[in-house]
Amino acid sequence: MVPYRPEPFTDFSNETNRKAIEAALDKVKAELGQEYPLIIGGKRVKTGESLDSINPSRKAEIIGHVSKADAELAEEAIQSAHKTFASWSRVPAQQRARLLFKTAALLRGRKHEFSAWLMLESGKTAPEADADTAEAIDFMEYYARQMIELDTTAASRLISLEGEDNDLRYIPLGVGVIIPPWNFPLAIMAGMTTAAVVAGNTVVLKPASATPVIAARFVALLEEAGMPPGVVQFLPGSGGEIGDLLVSHPLTRFISFTGSKEVGLRIFELSAKTAPGQKWLKRFVGELGGKDAIIVDSEADLEAAAQAIVASAFGFSGQKCSACSRAIVHADVYDEVLERCKELTRQLKVGTASDLASSTGPVIDEAAYRKILSYIEQGKKESRLVTGGGTAGEDGYFIEPTIFADAAPDAVIMQEEIFGPVVAFCKAESFEQALDIANNTEYGLTGSVFSSNRTRLEQAREHFHVGNLYFNRKCTGALVGVHPFGGFNMSGTDSKAGGPDYLLQFTQLKLISEKL
Ligand code: SER
Repeated sequence: MVPYRPEPFTDFSNETNRKAIEAALDKVKAELGQEYPLIIGGKRVKTGESLDSINPSRKAEIIGHVSKADAELAEEAIQSAHKTFASWSRVPAQQRARLLFKTAALLRGRKHEFSAWLMLESGKTAPEADADTAEAIDFMEYYARQMIELDTTAASRLISLEGEDNDLRYIPLGVGVIIPPWNFPLAIMAGMTTAAVVAGNTVVLKPASATPVIAARFVALLEEAGMPPGVVQFLPGSGGEIGDLLVSHPLTRFISFTGSKEVGLRIFELSAKTAPGQKWLKRFVGELGGKDAIIVDSEADLEAAAQAIVASAFGFSGQKCSACSRAIVHADVYDEVLERCKELTRQLKVGTASDLASSTGPVIDEAAYRKILSYIEQGKKESRLVTGGGTAGEDGYFIEPTIFADAAPDAVIMQEEIFGPVVAFCKAESFEQALDIANNTEYGLTGSVFSSNRTRLEQAREHFHVGNLYFNRKCTGALVGVHPFGGFNMSGTDSKAGGPDYLLQFTQLKLISEKL
């Protein structure tokens, strides 16, 4: 088997690549507005009620009509996953891994087509969409290899004892409920789903309501790669109507969730309650929010720091749990870094995501749009608006990249996750104070430090309490296998997606000891 390598990104300054993504956009535009049924046990189920997925860059454009499940269909989906678990859990790990390799190969062949769906359904620009598709390929290539390794090496890690034959096996858990986010609608959705599946579990996938078409197309790809019916049930629906039922169901063995802290805490709590007839303690794997900071020391490459702050704060309009929403800058260089960030931000072109000239697209939907604008109003009250602060066009949910300066460490915009294109600058009098400010939130996901001083970097290595700590680079863009991703505290269960231990969360370890 060839060793895992991350999928390279596409260079869109190259004319051939630009033409390829434009051709893919044309193809996808001709396929907009189709109907997407639920998939339960391999059967397509069209329901009376559907949700319309729209293009956040052009609110009037419908990406697809997606059937919505009700409680009865949710029950059917769980039963179907439960029934299929009996056979899928006994499919050899190598064969399950093959499904992921094949799906990754199919996706690689249709990379631009999937990226075009991402551009239209989630409002990603071409490079952001391309990175999302590449990451989906990476997750499958990586988890397939990890599963083979776990399967083949488990027993060899035991210490041998004379007179006994000892065996160790990673076996699956059972039925999982997969609730992915809309912000990496292909990568994270595919990673969460295929990690559970390659480990031998069967799942009910409830896609994010803003991006169900991408998920439907991915499930079709799994089917094309040979996934047996019933391994993944595709079940869009509202959290209120089916979410609680899926999580609370006695046959649900684990829940894998990526999304907001509020929803995550609710699922965590629900999953801890034992339903009548339930035979296990449910497992909860959660990736929640972040309030990520970039610290800029007085001794640092200030241009690189400013570029990183702007890229981390405004890439995909700040809608990443890894996004930089706080810049904590040493007083000696504060004005210079702030001024440079202002200049760089003003050069960004906000526009339709599928327009290759746009640097950043819209935010995802009406609710996000309103919430971010209300945080901007809050920011105006408690700090100084430096640039942005307004909306940018009527057709979609466009918000200007916004910088606030002189925010106090405990200001609302320094504490709460905004999940939009807003970054607050805060002045620190010393490097120690910068670290204290950075650690002063309930989250602990990503963080970055710009410094050329080795002692201070080592101080940060020790004291900056985040799951993903970066030095002299941006705080977004973790690569599968290279930067296992997940955070501390309210950022979640530190599941470390794309890391060597991720699959352990979807398995249990069985020891078999025979006396000779
Ligand atoms: N893994 C992404 C990043 O590192 C966020 O989900 O930006």
